Amino acid sequence: MDDDELAVRLRNDRYPRSAGYSARWLVDAAMGPNPLWQAEALADFEPDENLVRIAEAGLEDRVHPVFAEAHALPYAGGFFDAFDSIGAYHYFGTDDLYLGYCANFVKPGGQLGIVQPGPTEEYEELPPPHLESYWKWDFCAWHSAAWWRRHWEKTGLVTVEHADRLPHSWQDWLQWNEACDLANGMPGREEARMLHADGGRTLGLTRVVARRKAESSREEVTG
Ligand SMILES: C[S@@+](CC[C@H](N)C(=O)[O-])C[C@H]1O[C@@H](n2cnc3c(N)ncnc32)[C@H](O)[C@@H]1O
Repeated sequence: MDDDELAVRLRNDRYPRSAGYSARWLVDAAMGPNPLWQAEALADFEPDENLVRIAEAGLEDRVHPVFAEAHALPYAGGFFDAFDSIGAYHYFGTDDLYLGYCANFVKPGGQLGIVQPGPTEEYEELPPPHLESYWKWDFCAWHSAAWWRRHWEKTGLVTVEHADRLPHSWQDWLQWNEACDLANGMPGREEARMLHADGGRTLGLTRVVARRKAESSREEVTG
């Protein structure tokens, strides 16, 4: 598939800011549902700080990639105005205590936002019968918006301002996977087939935005 066709396949009016990026450049680094679309979905809730606006403003040189284990981040407490995780928080953030660890890096009153795969509601049965043939054991870390809201609120460290299943997210996820699969010469891969089989019944992307409470001190957060 040539670059123009790929760009057409990845045209999505829901994410106009992401359209400024080369489709080929994005697909070449694909690791999960389109990370820019997810970032743009979070940006609706972040007036001050977000990567898309920083890039649009030509400030890429001020965004510094760091390779680090999520439990050993090399920053001082209160260093950041905001914390975002795109398509990754479920790998480490289901630990009851992780929010306290990462919220410590955000200034009191600062925002935290995450987007990652999740079901509409918690499954009663795992694997869910209609997805059994596609199920991988680590999908057990995919959770609903209500689950994440409770998971964060029970710490008392943040105020959850928004928790939802991102509208149209299963279609966006599928659009992205189908374009990546075609671009990589492997149409019809398993994840796209799973999304087709689910047909939006349960799967999508879960979005959560919260604000660190002003009164939560470093001692309370870190123990
Ligand atoms: C599915 S990929 C998505 C990455 C990004 N959103 C994208 O689409 O390019 C999940 C990411 O989570 C990271 N990750 C998982 N567990 C981690 C951990 N314990 N510490 C740091 N990163 C972790 C992986 O390295 C990977 O980059």
